[in-house]
Amino acid sequence: MSVRRLAQESVQPASFAFKGGMKGEAKKWIAKYPKGREQSAVIPLLMLAQEQEGWVTKAAIENVAEMLGMPLIRVLEVATFYTQFQLQPVGTKAHIQVCGTTPCMLRGSGELIRVCKEKIHAEPFHTNESGTLSWEEVECQGACVNAPMVMIFKDAYEDLTPERLAEIIDEFEAGKGAAVKTGPQIDRVFSAPEGGALTLKTEITVKPGKTAKGAAPKAAAKAEAAKVPPAKAAKPKTAAIETSKAIKGPKAEAKKSAAKNEAAPVALASLDDKNRPAAIAKPAQPDDLKLISGVGPKLEGVLNGLGIFTFAQVASWKKAERDWVDGYLKFKGRIDRDDWVKQAKALAKGGRDEYVRVFGKEPR
Ligand code: FES
Repeated sequence: MSVRRLAQESVQPASFAFKGGMKGEAKKWIAKYPKGREQSAVIPLLMLAQEQEGWVTKAAIENVAEMLGMPLIRVLEVATFYTQFQLQPVGTKAHIQVCGTTPCMLRGSGELIRVCKEKIHAEPFHTNESGTLSWEEVECQGACVNAPMVMIFKDAYEDLTPERLAEIIDEFEAGKGAAVKTGPQIDRVFSAPEGGALTLKTEITVKPGKTAKGAAPKAAAKAEAAKVPPAKAAKPKTAAIETSKAIKGPKAEAKKSAAKNEAAPVALASLDDKNRPAAIAKPAQPDDLKLISGVGPKLEGVLNGLGIFTFAQVASWKKAERDWVDGYLKFKGRIDRDDWVKQAKALAKGGRDEYVRVFGKEPR
């Protein structure tokens, strides 16, 4: 970035004052800020001074400082910082600010500078012979996506080629600058892709029914469950209970179902079926069927209701009989999974001791 200094004394006018409508504009800007905060209007006032004079003179800086009650150095800091303020006379019809920062440089700003040198002057900040055009190189102007670009006063001209910049300069020189299209100089809308949109071109409509049954709600529910560890969820008591129920759902349901089966089995299998195990009358000392893993007090009552009271009875069940009992209890194979027959054989043969010998653990 070039060093920004005030122009030589020889070109500085002796005085400055806002004239005509500019005086009213300046007052309007100052009035926008609270009393004691008038200095916030420093940038708008310097811009107005530049519009009136064509550049920011030393006299204008002093005048603005006085109007806003600011130290002169504070206004000088602002005027010399921003490249939008011209500190010396520039072309009366156009001052071309060519962005030379990396994106614009990679996209051809060097060629744009060549055009300026050829059409205006070999050196920046020098006007052409008629004093109507000048140019300089500036840092990024914030339009990198449409690089390379130039600023001419308040407007940006983007997606430039050397040829297009040459045309633009000619139009300003001809006094038709106001008619030149600003922004992208190619088939691009603002900073959208060149030639039109390339993505999100299809409108997707979600059908209400689809949302309810689709995978998304399932995934959302899964994610929701995953992000609340059941043991550590810091929720109100009621909510914690609900969450715990929801997470433990399948297990709790299975337990509930087993208890239900033990309590009130639904007789899907016919009691008259030939595969129903043979019943006996209740002996004086029935076996404790609860020693069979998987049989609880209620289930024992159901078995007793079917005329089954001893380990020997269970130990004698053949496949068809086991299936009948399993179906009657709606166990879905649990009798074989828990191997009631093997357990009952051990218990029938030698009671607890035999059970421990066979299974290596105490029954229930
Ligand atoms: S690099 Fe040129 S506008 Fe940002």
